[in-house]
Amino acid sequence: TKKMILDLDTGVDDALAIALALGSPEVELIGITGTYGNVLVEQGVRNALALTELFGHPEVKVYKGLSHALKRDGFEVEEISAFIHGKNGIGEVELPEPTRTIEDQNAVDFIIESAHKYGKDLVLVPTGPQTNIAAAIQKDPSIVDLVDAEVLMGGALTQPGNVTPCSEANIHQDPYAANYVFRSGMPTTMVGLDVTLQTLLTYKDTQRWRATGTDAGQKLADITDYYIKAYETTAPKLGGCGLHDPLAVGVAIDPTLVNMLDINMMVDVDGPSNGRTIGDPDRLNDPHKTSKVCVGVDVDRFLKMFMDRITNLVAN
Ligand code: BDR
Ligand code: CA
Repeated sequence: TKKMILDLDTGVDDALAIALALGSPEVELIGITGTYGNVLVEQGVRNALALTELFGHPEVKVYKGLSHALKRDGFEVEEISAFIHGKNGIGEVELPEPTRTIEDQNAVDFIIESAHKYGKDLVLVPTGPQTNIAAAIQKDPSIVDLVDAEVLMGGALTQPGNVTPCSEANIHQDPYAANYVFRSGMPTTMVGLDVTLQTLLTYKDTQRWRATGTDAGQKLADITDYYIKAYETTAPKLGGCGLHDPLAVGVAIDPTLVNMLDINMMVDVDGPSNGRTIGDPDRLNDPHKTSKVCVGVDVDRFLKMFMDRITNLVAN
């Protein structure tokens, strides 16, 4: 089985990413590293501890990462994040105080150590700003060639951003870090808004979790309904909530779910389209491609995988 590290700013769709990873026999979730974004890093790691316990997986270790972007001094949760994910990141649903605590080792060192330990068996899946991954590469550039790949949720190639006209939320939080990772040469697969806004969840789906009658099913449905409701307000025409973060997990498990372009990417960090993920003009003709960008997705096949696996997880 492939080893996976999820690097999360644990909001609602990050919670769904945890559930999908735990419900997937092809991968072993060897750890969750916490970042900031939808919530502060402290709240994010607390959510990760509480959610893994809710899903019956207290063995998953949780590591705290950096609390703000590499080139900024601090971080405050944006109003829009609180509106979409709830003030606590998980739809205002109260989960019991976790019985365990975070690990002593920090997220950056855990990522480096795991890259050396598992090499090509390891996939990194960041679904928040890529600060921890960039910091790990800065500290130990050798990990770029060690790991199998990074499958990230973030950016957009054919869509406008969802925070600014140019910028998707995860890139917006730390454009410098995302750019650093793209240009480091680490093999990356970008799962951006191009595909994640095609995979939508509705109340009918969460009702299936509630119908399992379990505490986990009930709570996960309540958490997700908050997010669907926020999407009704912010994107009424969409007809559901975007399964951003779980799609990155899905692609890491089964790349045949998507169509990809091979194109070396970068982020505009100081130009007119600040925060935009764009093709890197300096490496466009380089025959060696280090990034792939998802541009098409088999929606039905992904949704079936997502629903079957998570329903099964919360039912047991
Ligand atoms: C991304 O931003 C966050 O709010 C979500 O959790 C997801 O990772 C979508 O743009
Ligand atoms: Ca996220």
